[in-house]
Amino acid sequence: MAKLIVCGSVNMDLSIQVDRMPQAGETLTGSGFMTTPGGKGANQAVAASRLGAPVTFIGAVGDDAFGHELRATLEADRIDTCHLSQSTLSTGTAIILRCNAENRIILNPGANGGFGSGFVREALDSLAEPQDMALTQFECAPEAVRTFIRTGHELGLYTMTNPAPAAPMDDEMLSCCDLICLNETECEIVCGILPTSLAQCEAAAAKLHEAGVRQVVITLGERGAYGSARTSDDWLLSPMESAVGATSLDLSTQLVEALPVEAVDTTAAGDTFLGALAAARLEGLSFFDALAFATRASALTVTRLGAQVSIPYREELT
Ligand code: RIB
Repeated sequence: MAKLIVCGSVNMDLSIQVDRMPQAGETLTGSGFMTTPGGKGANQAVAASRLGAPVTFIGAVGDDAFGHELRATLEADRIDTCHLSQSTLSTGTAIILRCNAENRIILNPGANGGFGSGFVREALDSLAEPQDMALTQFECAPEAVRTFIRTGHELGLYTMTNPAPAAPMDDEMLSCCDLICLNETECEIVCGILPTSLAQCEAAAAKLHEAGVRQVVITLGERGAYGSARTSDDWLLSPMESAVGATSLDLSTQLVEALPVEAVDTTAAGDTFLGALAAARLEGLSFFDALAFATRASALTVTRLGAQVSIPYREELT
């Protein structure tokens, strides 16, 4: 059976609720302190697994209490951790301030930044079957991320990239991405276009398609998610099978509306969206049905506190 291979970060999230963000030099009293599993890579892997995908993880944790706990929680979510290495660096941590359902995050990458191209290439070479999918984000060392995307592409995997935290992408990297999913900030940094209107979403997607990206998703928060595909049935094809030329602009596009929910914490909403999208492709859903499925999954996530603890299970989405 086809599986999802996620390469990415694993963090322990230390989060606290505040009524407002502190000023420079100011000490505020918060509440609701939580120590919970997170990290964009691990969150995406957990979402995909809870929503039905077989998942293998490539990454690193430290030989410390957080690292042992995070490895165990990934395994409890039925994620294969054979390629989760134990680093001499400390486990990644994220300090999160939650305020009015939004957050501010400060990362200490630790072990996430300590593995490189050789480790990633070796793991992918030993794991990947042509029908598999590869998913990554930008919380690990840039050369490790680039190698994962490029090697996944060379091996013929369907590659999904979430450029978060936002960083520019060059043409070579873009040409190795089957799907890119970005939020508004990431879209501005990657494409130079802030997608505040449908026309701007179309312009950003056109740029990415021209660079070789087959499917583009722009998440727009309360405005929903914009999807653009080089023909509507191209999404389920492997890169080898995809008959559409790299320059084809025969596009299918749709804006999938967000679900009205009472948001309490947006942490991991984007990660849930990505994991759900990957699980939906493995399940054989059409591109726009997959967007609707991912929208529902991330809507549930924002109604709960925390990262992985807030990610829904398959039975909650039926
Ligand atoms: O996307 C949310 C995640 O970002 C958190 O879990 C935190 O670890 C940071 O990586």
